[in-house]
Amino acid sequence: MSESLIIIGCGGHGREIYGVVQAINELSEKPRKVLGFLDDSPNEVNLGRLKRLGVPFLGDVGQLECMGGDKRYVIGIGDPRVRASVAARIGDKQLAAAPLVHPAATVGLGNEFSNGTVLLAGARVTTNVKIGAHVHINQNATVGHDNIIEDFVQVNPLAAISGDCSIGRESLIGTGAAILQGLSVGERATVGAGACVVRSVAAGQVVKGVPAH
Ligand SMILES: CC(C)(COP(=O)(O)OP(=O)(O)OC[C@H]1O[C@@H](n2cnc3c(N)ncnc32)[C@H](O)[C@@H]1OP(=O)(O)O)[C@@H](O)C(=O)NCCC(=O)NCCS
Repeated sequence: MSESLIIIGCGGHGREIYGVVQAINELSEKPRKVLGFLDDSPNEVNLGRLKRLGVPFLGDVGQLECMGGDKRYVIGIGDPRVRASVAARIGDKQLAAAPLVHPAATVGLGNEFSNGTVLLAGARVTTNVKIGAHVHINQNATVGHDNIIEDFVQVNPLAAISGDCSIGRESLIGTGAAILQGLSVGERATVGAGACVVRSVAAGQVVKGVPAH
């Protein structure tokens, strides 16, 4: 039986993830059925965009509880901390969707992915990378060998994480940032767009610039 999927968050990131599911479905013998979107505070503009996509809006996140235990969900929210708090409300990690990997992403050998992980088009993960739950690797971002990417991390488009790095849970790696090899980024840290990280970043720190401070 094919999986029924709910997307949480009807903003841009959630609707991009809908596109990932459609791209996977085009090549799949068991296409996933997206039942619709949930969002606690959707705005009219985004509701109009959902309508144009032809996907129903189903209500607030609390509705997930009434939908039966066989439904899977993916949290299409770009902010890693908000994503983590929504996941904590939902509670049951088993219901998070199996990893969603866009067919135009490239994935090497020996990687470990978790439920709720999403790789968008052009994302590249090389080898022996461990990726936690609800991690999103956005378009054309690269994750080098032997990385550990903890739960809820958001890697934005075109970011490049070199080999042997570790990225702590709920961290955000901004668009086009580069992280040099062997460094760690602590949990809930933010690396600004375009930054070049040359030293490890402590938990909760915000760094930006080249080199990043
Ligand atoms: C670094 C970042 C977290 C800072 O956020 P912030 O604290 O709200 O920053 P502000 O907008 O208040 O700007 C504060 C200062 O930092 C500068 N600044 C902001 N972002 C910067 C960046 N990425 N690199 C260098 N300088 C930056 C601003 O120009 C401003 O400088 P000023 O004080 O001299 O005027 C944020 O700008 C960023 O880069 N986030 C990543 C966003 C991203 O990846 N978006 C893509 C979504 S797909």
